[in-house]
Amino acid sequence: MGSKALCLALCCVLFASHIYIPIPGNIEERWKVMALDAIFKTCTFMGMCFEYIGIMTYEDFISMIFRLDYTQPLSDENVTVTDTAFTDIPVRVYLPKRKSETPRRAVIYIHGGAYCFGSFKQTAFDFLNRWTANKLDAVVVGVDYRLAPQHRFPAQFEDGIAAVKFFLQDKILTKYGVDPTRICISGDSSGGRLAAAVTQQVQNDLEIKHKIKVQALLYPHLQVIDSYLPSHRENENGVVLTRDIAIKLVSLYITEDKTFPQALKRNQHMPLESRPLFKFVNWSTLLPKKYRKDYVYTEPILGRTSYSLPALMDIRMSPLLANDSQLQNLPSTFILTCQHDILRDDGLMYVSRLQNAGVQVTHEHIEDGFHGALSFMASPLYLHLGLRIRDMYISWLDKNL
Ligand SMILES: *[C@@H]1O[C@H](CO)[C@@H](O)[C@H](O)[C@H]1NC(C)=O
Ligand SMILES: *[C@@H]1O[C@H](CO)[C@@H](O)[C@H](O)[C@H]1NC(C)=O
Ligand SMILES: *[C@@H]1O[C@H](CO)[C@@H](O)[C@H](O)[C@H]1NC(C)=O
Repeated sequence: MGSKALCLALCCVLFASHIYIPIPGNIEERWKVMALDAIFKTCTFMGMCFEYIGIMTYEDFISMIFRLDYTQPLSDENVTVTDTAFTDIPVRVYLPKRKSETPRRAVIYIHGGAYCFGSFKQTAFDFLNRWTANKLDAVVVGVDYRLAPQHRFPAQFEDGIAAVKFFLQDKILTKYGVDPTRICISGDSSGGRLAAAVTQQVQNDLEIKHKIKVQALLYPHLQVIDSYLPSHRENENGVVLTRDIAIKLVSLYITEDKTFPQALKRNQHMPLESRPLFKFVNWSTLLPKKYRKDYVYTEPILGRTSYSLPALMDIRMSPLLANDSQLQNLPSTFILTCQHDILRDDGLMYVSRLQNAGVQVTHEHIEDGFHGALSFMASPLYLHLGLRIRDMYISWLDKNL
């Protein structure tokens, strides 16, 4: 009893010490966001302490918290919800109950969670996918994938592409009553990267018969080769996602080498032979002036460290590294970026790259948005911002899918 009280008291003190972290001036529902941010930062702090003391790793602690939020597949009056597996990849399928004369549209949703956390089972994703199925009268598939650090790159990509290929088979599309010409792949954050990488693969693989009609990328993570973009600098202590945490989690996904996060933080993690790739993420040419501001572009420092990590130069890791001829076959794309997001410039640069390659792009930029806002869409942690993102996403899909 005494130790529980002590724990509670400690949490309160930590929470109180984090609540005064300033947040950007234009963010709405300020107190709610400050409280959420304080909860996140308190959890992070506790996770780091546990790791330091040796009780458990930071990522084990955070995934424990994520798992508290997992839901069961519950059907409702409009949608039948089932958990199943595509090959051996766990998926949750949402089938509208109302009768349809014609085959339906379909959305494959790949959840975010920094490669280390989360599932389609989280309340917010379950809510979003159910909502999508109901609003669009579409078949929706939430996809899970193996998580880091137990499984590193490219396990997540392999699971994503395996699930998508399974779904794109004629017999499966027929089983779910899906129109093969109206399929979307969506994802947020790390799931946005998986969605982008899987879409590139499907569109460029001659052996896959059915192609993707549209892709929707919500504040996606799209590259690991430059870790010092203007958005990384501006959002070093960002709401929900800080630069240190992003670096820690991305590193866990790439390698077990304990020196890698420091190299990534200094932006000195790339080998010499990666020089030709930097034109694909050259923010001095790819970011609009408004976001470049007065930041000065400096040439990357290469070869400081010698990691032999093919992942760093792989387009499945960094979809921004695809060349123009690989981008040309991409479908009509929706990209949503948030101003107060460390990953903002990944999304902005992909908008430029796709437009330069002649791909149809709809870009929504949320001036008062921050990373991960979609996760705050269902009670008790709900924000207007989450609902606004949901509505932009759904209305674009409704018109374009
Ligand atoms: C079912 O759909 C109707 C019409 O879209 C909606 O009003 C109702 O809230 C939905 N029910 C659930 C449980 O989502
Ligand atoms: C990036 O673009 C600038 C021009 O804005 C150019 O001077 C520089 O060489 C480019 N660097 C790379 C690595 O492409
Ligand atoms: C783009 O990359 C692909 C795959 O690496 C390669 O086969 C192709 O030649 C490249 N195209 C150009 C224009 O560089």
